[in-house]
Amino acid sequence: MSALSELYKEIEECHRCEISKYRTKVVPGEGAENADIMFVGEAPGWHEDQQGRPFVGPAGQFLEQLLASINLRREQVYIANVIKCRPQGNRDPLPVEIHNCREWLGRQIELIRPKMIVTLGRYSMAMFFPGKSISRIHGTAQKRDNVIYYAMYHPAAALHQQSLRQAIEEDMLKIPSLLAQAQGMAEAKPQPQQLSMF
Ligand code: URA
Repeated sequence: MSALSELYKEIEECHRCEISKYRTKVVPGEGAENADIMFVGEAPGWHEDQQGRPFVGPAGQFLEQLLASINLRREQVYIANVIKCRPQGNRDPLPVEIHNCREWLGRQIELIRPKMIVTLGRYSMAMFFPGKSISRIHGTAQKRDNVIYYAMYHPAAALHQQSLRQAIEEDMLKIPSLLAQAQGMAEAKPQPQQLSMF
């Protein structure tokens, strides 16, 4: 069993939060264990809770369309969420839930070691770009420790709001060149490097 599968078992047994009592299935995340790029959403919704898989409802269909626009399929990337259980009634995650779940995402990142992490929505952005505002930083990247962090709007928000939809579509199209830079950075020995999107 891979280290990631073992981690999934641990996550499945997690009952740190009240919401774990109400979940149908825990939603640890899924995708290529050696993915170069990881997408981090907010929390499972109804569909995800039913299936135990991230981004399988309408927001997931839109995410798959966005991935297709840059010639990627979901199997080629890794998809996770900030929290692994569905908040009842699809409410926003509570700070305590984000705190309790932080370890799982941290360990997923350690195991997958993605070269690029794309945050989807405010809650995910807040973990990697603390104190920033999504309307200001969406579509921009930051490099830290040879990983490129890139903020995008949440596909669910962008699905029905035309201005956000256009923004998320445009932001997605910037990913291939950033990813190529991230992949190049990993191959090259560490040296000062300018990224076009800072
Ligand atoms: N929204 C999220 O943030 N994550 C999912 O998995 C589904 C919808």
